[in-house]
Amino acid sequence: MLVTIKDDYESMSEQAAQIVAEQIRRKPDSVIGFATGSTPLGLYNELIRMHRETGLDFSKITTFNLDEYVGLPPEHDQGYHYFMWENLFKHINVDPRHVYIPDGMADDIDYFCEWYEEQMAEVRGLDLQILGIGANGHIAFNEPGSSLGSRTRIKTLTSKTVKDNARFFDDPEEVPKYAITMGIGTIMDARKLVLVASSEGKADAIQATLEGPITAMVPATIVQMHQQAHVVLDTEAASKLEYEHHEGIVERK
Ligand code: GLP
Repeated sequence: MLVTIKDDYESMSEQAAQIVAEQIRRKPDSVIGFATGSTPLGLYNELIRMHRETGLDFSKITTFNLDEYVGLPPEHDQGYHYFMWENLFKHINVDPRHVYIPDGMADDIDYFCEWYEEQMAEVRGLDLQILGIGANGHIAFNEPGSSLGSRTRIKTLTSKTVKDNARFFDDPEEVPKYAITMGIGTIMDARKLVLVASSEGKADAIQATLEGPITAMVPATIVQMHQQAHVVLDTEAASKLEYEHHEGIVERK
Protein backbone atom coordinates (compact mmCIF):
# COMPACT_ATOMS: atom_id res chain seq x y z
CA MET A 1 0.00 0.00 0.00
CA LEU A 2 1.27 3.45 -0.83
CA VAL A 3 0.44 6.19 1.66
CA THR A 4 1.06 9.83 0.81
CA ILE A 5 0.57 12.51 3.43
CA LYS A 6 0.26 16.08 2.26
CA ASP A 7 0.22 19.27 4.32
CA ASP A 8 -3.33 20.32 3.58
CA TYR A 9 -6.54 19.59 1.72
CA GLU A 10 -5.42 21.46 -1.43
CA SER A 11 -2.17 19.55 -1.88
CA MET A 12 -3.94 16.27 -1.02
CA SER A 13 -6.47 17.03 -3.77
CA GLU A 14 -3.73 17.95 -6.27
CA GLN A 15 -1.81 14.75 -5.56
CA ALA A 16 -4.93 12.60 -6.02
CA ALA A 17 -5.83 14.46 -9.23
CA GLN A 18 -2.32 13.79 -10.56
CA ILE A 19 -2.84 10.06 -10.11
CA VAL A 20 -6.17 10.17 -11.98
CA ALA A 21 -4.70 12.38 -14.74
CA GLU A 22 -1.70 10.03 -15.19
CA GLN A 23 -4.08 7.10 -15.57
CA ILE A 24 -6.08 8.95 -18.27
CA ARG A 25 -2.96 10.12 -20.11
CA ARG A 26 -1.52 6.61 -20.08
CA LYS A 27 -4.81 5.03 -21.18
CA PRO A 28 -7.21 7.59 -22.71
CA ASP A 29 -10.11 5.11 -22.70
CA SER A 30 -9.70 4.31 -18.99
CA VAL A 31 -12.67 3.18 -16.96
CA ILE A 32 -12.79 5.35 -13.85
CA GLY A 33 -14.92 4.87 -10.76
CA PHE A 34 -16.04 8.14 -9.17
CA ALA A 35 -17.11 8.88 -5.61
CA THR A 36 -19.32 11.53 -4.04
CA GLY A 37 -19.03 13.25 -0.66
CA SER A 38 -17.28 16.50 0.15
CA THR A 39 -13.73 15.08 0.21
CA PRO A 40 -13.25 14.46 -3.55
CA LEU A 41 -14.53 17.95 -4.47
CA GLY A 42 -11.01 19.42 -4.43
CA LEU A 43 -9.78 16.57 -6.60
CA TYR A 44 -12.63 17.22 -9.06
CA ASN A 45 -11.86 20.95 -9.14
CA GLU A 46 -8.26 20.12 -9.95
CA LEU A 47 -9.34 17.78 -12.78
CA ILE A 48 -11.53 20.57 -14.18
CA ARG A 49 -8.55 22.95 -14.01
CA MET A 50 -6.32 20.42 -15.79
CA HIS A 51 -8.97 19.99 -18.48
CA ARG A 52 -9.21 23.75 -19.05
CA GLU A 53 -5.56 24.65 -18.74
CA THR A 54 -3.70 21.58 -19.95
CA GLY A 55 -6.32 20.01 -22.21
CA LEU A 56 -6.65 16.82 -20.14
CA ASP A 57 -8.98 14.82 -22.37
CA PHE A 58 -11.88 12.88 -20.86
CA SER A 59 -13.65 12.19 -24.15
CA LYS A 60 -12.80 8.48 -24.25
CA ILE A 61 -13.19 7.56 -20.59
CA THR A 62 -16.07 5.53 -19.19
CA THR A 63 -17.26 6.32 -15.66
CA PHE A 64 -19.06 4.30 -13.01
CA ASN A 65 -20.25 5.89 -9.79
CA LEU A 66 -20.11 4.06 -6.50
CA ASP A 67 -23.61 4.65 -5.23
CA GLU A 68 -26.94 6.51 -5.33
CA TYR A 69 -29.91 6.98 -3.03
CA VAL A 70 -33.06 4.99 -3.75
CA GLY A 71 -36.12 7.09 -4.57
CA LEU A 72 -34.44 10.32 -5.64
CA PRO A 73 -34.93 11.36 -9.26
CA PRO A 74 -31.76 12.30 -11.20
CA GLU A 75 -32.56 16.03 -11.00
CA HIS A 76 -32.87 16.02 -7.19
CA ASP A 77 -30.20 18.31 -5.76
CA GLN A 78 -29.29 15.83 -3.00
CA GLY A 79 -28.86 12.94 -5.42
CA TYR A 80 -25.53 11.75 -6.71
CA HIS A 81 -26.49 12.20 -10.39
CA TYR A 82 -26.90 15.89 -9.71
CA PHE A 83 -23.73 15.97 -7.62
CA MET A 84 -21.58 14.43 -10.35
CA TRP A 85 -22.92 16.57 -13.18
CA GLU A 86 -22.75 19.81 -11.17
CA ASN A 87 -19.34 19.22 -9.64
CA LEU A 88 -17.47 17.47 -12.44
CA PHE A 89 -19.09 16.06 -15.56
CA LYS A 90 -20.62 19.24 -16.97
CA HIS A 91 -17.23 20.98 -16.71
CA ILE A 92 -15.20 18.38 -18.63
CA ASN A 93 -15.60 16.70 -22.01
CA VAL A 94 -16.89 13.36 -20.77
CA ASP A 95 -19.24 11.58 -23.21
CA PRO A 96 -22.66 11.34 -21.46
CA ARG A 97 -23.19 7.95 -23.15
CA HIS A 98 -20.23 6.63 -21.17
CA VAL A 99 -21.44 7.81 -17.75
CA TYR A 100 -22.94 5.19 -15.44
CA ILE A 101 -24.51 6.15 -12.11
CA PRO A 102 -26.80 3.75 -10.23
CA ASP A 103 -30.47 4.40 -10.98
CA GLY A 104 -32.21 5.04 -7.67
CA MET A 105 -35.56 5.11 -9.50
CA ALA A 106 -35.20 1.64 -11.08
CA ASP A 107 -38.43 -0.41 -10.89
CA ASP A 108 -36.56 -3.64 -10.33
CA ILE A 109 -33.55 -2.78 -8.20
CA ASP A 110 -32.09 -6.29 -8.04
CA TYR A 111 -32.21 -6.53 -11.83
CA PHE A 112 -30.63 -3.10 -12.12
CA CYS A 113 -27.77 -4.06 -9.78
CA GLU A 114 -27.01 -7.15 -11.87
CA TRP A 115 -27.10 -5.02 -15.03
CA TYR A 116 -24.71 -2.49 -13.47
CA GLU A 117 -22.19 -5.25 -12.67
CA GLU A 118 -22.56 -6.56 -16.23
CA GLN A 119 -21.80 -3.13 -17.69
CA MET A 120 -18.59 -3.01 -15.67
CA ALA A 121 -17.65 -6.49 -16.87
CA GLU A 122 -18.39 -5.54 -20.46
CA VAL A 123 -15.71 -2.83 -20.41
CA ARG A 124 -13.32 -5.28 -18.71
CA GLY A 125 -13.61 -3.73 -15.25
CA LEU A 126 -12.49 -0.52 -13.64
CA ASP A 127 -8.93 0.72 -14.16
CA LEU A 128 -9.08 3.08 -11.20
CA GLN A 129 -11.60 3.65 -8.43
CA ILE A 130 -11.65 6.87 -6.38
CA LEU A 131 -12.82 6.37 -2.79
CA GLY A 132 -13.70 8.54 0.18
CA ILE A 133 -14.22 7.10 3.65
CA GLY A 134 -16.92 7.57 6.27
CA ALA A 135 -15.96 8.44 9.85
CA ASN A 136 -17.00 4.87 10.78
CA GLY A 137 -14.79 3.39 8.04
CA HIS A 138 -17.51 2.84 5.46
CA ILE A 139 -16.73 2.94 1.75
CA ALA A 140 -19.45 3.88 -0.76
CA PHE A 141 -22.56 2.85 1.24
CA ASN A 142 -21.02 -0.32 2.62
CA GLU A 143 -21.63 0.37 6.26
CA PRO A 144 -19.93 -1.62 9.07
CA GLY A 145 -20.92 -5.27 8.89
CA SER A 146 -21.19 -5.33 5.08
CA SER A 147 -19.85 -8.50 3.52
CA LEU A 148 -16.28 -8.00 2.36
CA GLY A 149 -17.17 -9.96 -0.78
CA SER A 150 -20.39 -8.05 -1.57
CA ARG A 151 -21.43 -6.91 -5.06
CA THR A 152 -23.67 -4.05 -6.23
CA ARG A 153 -26.93 -4.22 -4.25
CA ILE A 154 -29.48 -2.27 -2.25
CA LYS A 155 -28.48 -1.39 1.31
CA THR A 156 -30.43 0.05 4.22
CA LEU A 157 -28.75 3.21 5.46
CA THR A 158 -27.83 3.31 9.13
CA SER A 159 -30.03 5.51 11.31
CA LYS A 160 -26.98 7.75 11.82
CA THR A 161 -26.55 8.29 8.06
CA VAL A 162 -30.29 9.00 7.69
CA LYS A 163 -30.10 11.47 10.60
CA ASP A 164 -26.96 13.14 9.18
CA ASN A 165 -28.70 13.60 5.84
CA ALA A 166 -31.96 14.97 7.28
CA ARG A 167 -30.60 18.56 7.37
CA PHE A 168 -30.44 18.58 3.56
CA PHE A 169 -34.16 17.85 3.12
CA ASP A 170 -37.17 20.07 3.80
CA ASP A 171 -39.47 17.13 4.44
CA PRO A 172 -38.12 14.42 6.81
CA GLU A 173 -40.23 11.88 4.89
CA GLU A 174 -38.10 12.57 1.83
CA VAL A 175 -34.79 11.54 3.45
CA PRO A 176 -33.67 8.35 1.70
CA LYS A 177 -33.51 5.20 3.79
CA TYR A 178 -31.96 2.97 1.14
CA ALA A 179 -29.17 3.26 -1.37
CA ILE A 180 -27.79 1.26 -4.27
CA THR A 181 -24.08 0.75 -3.76
CA MET A 182 -21.23 -1.10 -5.39
CA GLY A 183 -20.21 -3.88 -3.06
CA ILE A 184 -16.84 -4.22 -1.37
CA GLY A 185 -16.01 -7.08 -3.77
CA THR A 186 -16.93 -4.83 -6.70
CA ILE A 187 -14.63 -2.08 -5.42
CA MET A 188 -11.78 -4.56 -4.83
CA ASP A 189 -11.98 -5.67 -8.48
CA ALA A 190 -10.80 -2.24 -9.65
CA ARG A 191 -7.19 -2.47 -10.80
CA LYS A 192 -6.16 0.57 -8.77
CA LEU A 193 -7.71 2.29 -5.75
CA VAL A 194 -7.15 5.91 -4.76
CA LEU A 195 -8.57 6.67 -1.32
CA VAL A 196 -8.69 10.28 -0.20
CA ALA A 197 -9.29 11.45 3.37
CA SER A 198 -8.99 14.85 4.97
CA SER A 199 -9.54 16.38 8.43
CA GLU A 200 -9.36 15.13 11.98
CA GLY A 201 -12.83 13.61 11.81
CA LYS A 202 -11.37 10.86 9.63
CA ALA A 203 -8.22 10.23 11.73
CA ASP A 204 -9.62 7.24 13.69
CA ALA A 205 -11.06 5.63 10.56
CA ILE A 206 -7.73 6.09 8.74
CA GLN A 207 -5.72 4.66 11.63
CA ALA A 208 -7.98 1.59 11.71
CA THR A 209 -7.92 1.28 7.92
CA LEU A 210 -4.14 1.36 7.56
CA GLU A 211 -2.95 -0.15 10.82
CA GLY A 212 -5.82 -2.16 12.27
CA PRO A 213 -6.96 -5.72 11.57
CA ILE A 214 -9.07 -6.37 8.48
CA THR A 215 -12.68 -6.50 9.57
CA ALA A 216 -16.14 -6.07 8.08
CA MET A 217 -16.81 -3.72 11.01
CA VAL A 218 -14.44 -1.22 9.34
CA PRO A 219 -15.12 -1.93 5.65
CA ALA A 220 -12.25 0.26 4.40
CA THR A 221 -9.70 -2.08 6.06
CA ILE A 222 -10.13 -4.36 3.04
CA VAL A 223 -7.87 -2.00 1.04
CA GLN A 224 -4.99 -3.74 2.86
CA MET A 225 -5.69 -6.71 0.57
CA HIS A 226 -5.50 -4.66 -2.63
CA GLN A 227 -2.35 -4.88 -4.74
CA GLN A 228 -2.47 -1.27 -5.92
CA ALA A 229 -4.03 0.92 -3.29
CA HIS A 230 -2.82 4.50 -2.94
CA VAL A 231 -4.08 6.36 0.14
CA VAL A 232 -3.72 10.15 -0.06
CA LEU A 233 -4.21 12.02 3.22
CA ASP A 234 -3.78 15.43 4.72
CA THR A 235 -1.83 15.70 7.99
CA GLU A 236 -5.00 15.87 10.09
CA ALA A 237 -6.45 12.66 8.68
CA ALA A 238 -3.01 11.05 9.21
CA SER A 239 -2.62 12.41 12.75
CA LYS A 240 -3.45 9.15 14.54
CA LEU A 241 -1.22 6.86 12.47
CA GLU A 242 1.30 5.17 14.70
CA TYR A 243 3.95 4.16 12.15
CA GLU A 244 6.83 6.47 11.33
CA HIS A 245 6.51 8.54 8.18
CA HIS A 246 9.32 9.81 5.98
CA GLU A 247 8.99 13.13 4.20
CA GLY A 248 5.31 12.61 3.72
CA ILE A 249 5.62 9.34 1.83
CA VAL A 250 5.47 5.89 3.32
CA GLU A 251 5.56 2.85 1.16
CA ARG A 252 4.28 -0.38 2.61
CA LYS A 253 4.38 -3.52 0.50
C1 GLP B 1 -21.13 9.04 1.86
C2 GLP B 1 -20.70 8.44 0.51
C3 GLP B 1 -19.28 7.92 0.58
C4 GLP B 1 -18.35 8.99 1.14
C5 GLP B 1 -18.79 9.38 2.53
C6 GLP B 1 -17.91 10.44 3.18
O1 GLP B 1 -21.48 8.06 2.76
N1 GLP B 1 -21.59 7.38 0.11
O2 GLP B 1 -18.86 7.53 -0.73
O3 GLP B 1 -17.02 8.52 1.17
O4 GLP B 1 -20.13 9.88 2.44
O5 GLP B 1 -18.23 11.72 2.76
P1 GLP B 1 -17.37 13.01 3.03
O6 GLP B 1 -16.24 12.99 2.05
O7 GLP B 1 -18.32 14.15 2.78
O8 GLP B 1 -16.90 12.93 4.43
